[in-house]
Amino acid sequence: MESSWATTNAATDAGRWFARRLAAESLARGDATGWFEMLYAAAEQGVVTVPWAGLAPSPRLVSALAGLPLGGRAVVVGCGLGDDAEHVASLGLTTLAFDVSPTAIAEARRRFPHSAVEYVAADLLSPPRSWAGAFDLVIEVFTLQVLTGATRRAAFARLAQLVAPGGRLLVIAKARDEDEWPGMMPWPLTRIEIESFHKYGLTKESIADVIDDDDDGPVRRWRAWFAAPPAA
Ligand SMILES: C[S@@+](CC[C@H](N)C(=O)[O-])C[C@H]1O[C@@H](n2cnc3c(N)ncnc32)[C@H](O)[C@@H]1O
Repeated sequence: MESSWATTNAATDAGRWFARRLAAESLARGDATGWFEMLYAAAEQGVVTVPWAGLAPSPRLVSALAGLPLGGRAVVVGCGLGDDAEHVASLGLTTLAFDVSPTAIAEARRRFPHSAVEYVAADLLSPPRSWAGAFDLVIEVFTLQVLTGATRRAAFARLAQLVAPGGRLLVIAKARDEDEWPGMMPWPLTRIEIESFHKYGLTKESIADVIDDDDDGPVRRWRAWFAAPPAA
């Protein structure tokens, strides 16, 4: 039933604070990602709302992919409840989508029982070996920004490793200036961070600094495209 995951502005605010507390407690225990499953599990029981679960594809992702010649194999990283992955599959790409939270993956499968998307519970930080260089299009929407410290740096490297020779990576994330306080989770990315994909062998195609009108008001974001070199 969709309604247990649907949200209002007040419920989103409560969910955000709940998520921040879970994140702080998890990080204090030295567990960078354990809080995601705890949050989805609490939401499944109706205790709280997942603050980012809009139950629709991200408008910024939809506009970034509109009109592009797309084909081959795509992966949607940190796919949550599956809306972005369903959109990507609807564009004709063979789509795999994964999330570190098994509850989120179970819910995505339940919401889209006839989906063409392959939903998998997996950790970006330790992906299956067979995924290395396997995807023509790698899509990351709002996952880097909920990771921090060494985990976040490792996530950049792992994302780059998923891209096939000649393939592309699309990143959509909150943006901030280098000297701006990152604030509370989600922690926006700086330009230096977003540009760091070059350290992992990717070439920058474009980095747009955009303003999105969200329910909470205007939000500054990066929409960045990177490419892997073609096979030798
Ligand atoms: C802010 S949410 C965004 C979800 C979805 N992309 C969206 O835009 O609605 C970040 C997602 O990344 C997942 N995630 C966090 N760390 C991850 C990791 N190491 N591997 C895979 N998924 C991860 C979380 O469980 C969560 O679903």
